[in-house]
Amino acid sequence: MKDWNGTDQVVLRTPRGASVRVSLHGGQVMSWRNDKGEELLFTSSKAIFKPPKPMRGGIPICFPQFGKGESLEQHGFARNKIWKIDENPPPLHPSDSNGKSFVDLLLKPSEDDLKFWPHSFEFCLRVSLGINGNLAMISRVRNINGRQFSFSFAYHTYLPVSDISEVRIEGLETLDYLDNLCQKERFTEQGDAITFECEVDRVYVSSPNTIAVLDHEKKRTYVIKKEGLPDVVVWNPWEKKSRTMADFGDEEYKQMLCVDAAAIEKSITLKPGEEWTGRLEISVVPSSYCSEP
Ligand code: BG6
Repeated sequence: MKDWNGTDQVVLRTPRGASVRVSLHGGQVMSWRNDKGEELLFTSSKAIFKPPKPMRGGIPICFPQFGKGESLEQHGFARNKIWKIDENPPPLHPSDSNGKSFVDLLLKPSEDDLKFWPHSFEFCLRVSLGINGNLAMISRVRNINGRQFSFSFAYHTYLPVSDISEVRIEGLETLDYLDNLCQKERFTEQGDAITFECEVDRVYVSSPNTIAVLDHEKKRTYVIKKEGLPDVVVWNPWEKKSRTMADFGDEEYKQMLCVDAAAIEKSITLKPGEEWTGRLEISVVPSSYCSEP
């Protein structure tokens, strides 16, 4: 199928009717539905479906940089580029394919990208939908440069929530975080689960590989499992910032929360020929869920 501006999209489905829609624009997951047809990712009612920017929602990919930088645009260029379907992907572990519906995408830097970030790479992205409806993403970045390079990365995951003030995140308690609202100053989280009553823009560092986002009102929990991604970004723009974002409704901060599996504090460094892998798996389970130790 094609999306609103002619960019190709790929739809994955399970026999029971769960689905994932991925756009070649940015390799962005645009939609993920369970077998009842319920949407499991947030999309803003004001989202703009027009390159070069990613639409506000789903799962944009932040690479080769998370946040602002000197020569690159905010969150890097990968989310703004047109990816290709990878007809010949490098082999993965058989458990990454068994019983799953998947698509492999590929991004290589253009001449223009190399002017701003002079490092040749191959970025292979597998998006897959398990038979149980779980969404998985595997990113593999290979250095095909003569010199080493470093990058940061995030799966910028927009989750829909019923009421932000009723949501809590488990698995980040007692961790250190860098606060983007205070010049990246480092703080330590207290012992309680994370709850929300104002703007939050933080990078929790060295987090466990499983965290849970509990939506009390919807009686459902997002379980986020990650590998190769030590950090977790937690972002909600709250009222004031929402009003400054053209592609986001003034009140929509109440119904969304970004929780990103990421590698930010310590950038990933690849020597020539080396490859990095970052995995994300998200499932939705009913009622409460306690994160693994
Ligand atoms: C978050 C950042 O992950 O992304 C915020 O921590 C930023 O600082 C937000 O505002 C949205 O970024 P963008 O570029 O998609 O508007």
